[in-house]
Amino acid sequence: MLLQTVVSSFSDAIEQALRDILATDSSLDSEYLHMLHYHMGWTNSDQLLDSAGKRTRPLLTLLCTAAAGGDQRLAIPLAAGVELIHNFSLIHDDIQDNSQLRRSRPTVWARFGRSQAINAGDALFTYAHLALQQDVGLTSETRLEALRILDETCISLTKGQHLDMAFETQELVSTEEYMSMISGKTAALIAAATEFGALAADAQDNVRLHYRAYGHYLGLAFQIRDDILGIWGDSAETGKSSATDIERGKKTLPILYGLRQSSELRELYRKDDLNTDTVRNILDEKGARKYCEDKEQLHAQDALQHLAAADPLGDAGASLENMTLQLLGRGD
Ligand code: IPE
Ligand code: IPE
Ligand code: MG
Ligand code: MG
Repeated sequence: MLLQTVVSSFSDAIEQALRDILATDSSLDSEYLHMLHYHMGWTNSDQLLDSAGKRTRPLLTLLCTAAAGGDQRLAIPLAAGVELIHNFSLIHDDIQDNSQLRRSRPTVWARFGRSQAINAGDALFTYAHLALQQDVGLTSETRLEALRILDETCISLTKGQHLDMAFETQELVSTEEYMSMISGKTAALIAAATEFGALAADAQDNVRLHYRAYGHYLGLAFQIRDDILGIWGDSAETGKSSATDIERGKKTLPILYGLRQSSELRELYRKDDLNTDTVRNILDEKGARKYCEDKEQLHAQDALQHLAAADPLGDAGASLENMTLQLLGRGD
């Protein structure tokens, strides 16, 4: 099978599972569900390209299951659960970051208000747990293990989000602090996604650890890329604002590098005088983008090494490698 065929058949299965989980309808539910469907990108109005998100995490889960020699159909509830947790975290993150744009559309809070957005996020969090409890052939011990991993991941994610917000007003943030922040807010869920793949395939412990480490390092690289796009990205392509990170005083990797290299930038941050163009110019002058791209590539290499050590099989294995390179802007 062509790699693209594998990916699109897995993607269809994921979308169907997500729709099934969130389809419950009664007339009383309709406004409630509309908010969830809006965020998932299923409403007919506003149907812009990419409004559904890339579905990267559940695709990783199914590909890892197949690459580890398992039947990807068993992993579908786990994959759906991961994507629902991701979407819960985005709805809440957009409130926390005061972001008005996501996937080229108004965020849930910008559209329906903050109170309803908090509630919509809580709903997706809960549906994720229900997804994992579905019985499609995994043993009850495996499902319980998956629930434990999911909940530990949510703790890591909220710790990471806590640091991300705390750092907005913290003058000095070390590289170690930054790494622990992104390990929590982003890498933890991607590590869970790839570990779920191996878990559903009933892989041996050492193989499962390699899949988990693959997701962890991929997640670090992924967040650094997101940090780069948060400053130099084209809003028309990312579907997000390229000003929010600077305006909020986020301590992303380009900013941390710039703060170390430029007393002018340190002064602007001390005075809370954060003009996007001025900050971007200083970062350009100091070579912050190249610094971050090099770090991103280092983590991507670590990810690829763990993937190779897991000895992934067949088209799914090749797709994982290809997808990893593509996510990092180097694939075909
Ligand atoms: C955005 O993740 C949040 C980060 C962890 C950087 P994605 O880029 O995977 O978001 P969607 O789901 O495709 O919109
Ligand atoms: C990513 O947060 C992590 C979570 C949402 C938990 P960011 O704030 O860095 O991501 P974007 O840029 O808004 O997607
Ligand atoms: Mg954000
Ligand atoms: Mg955030």
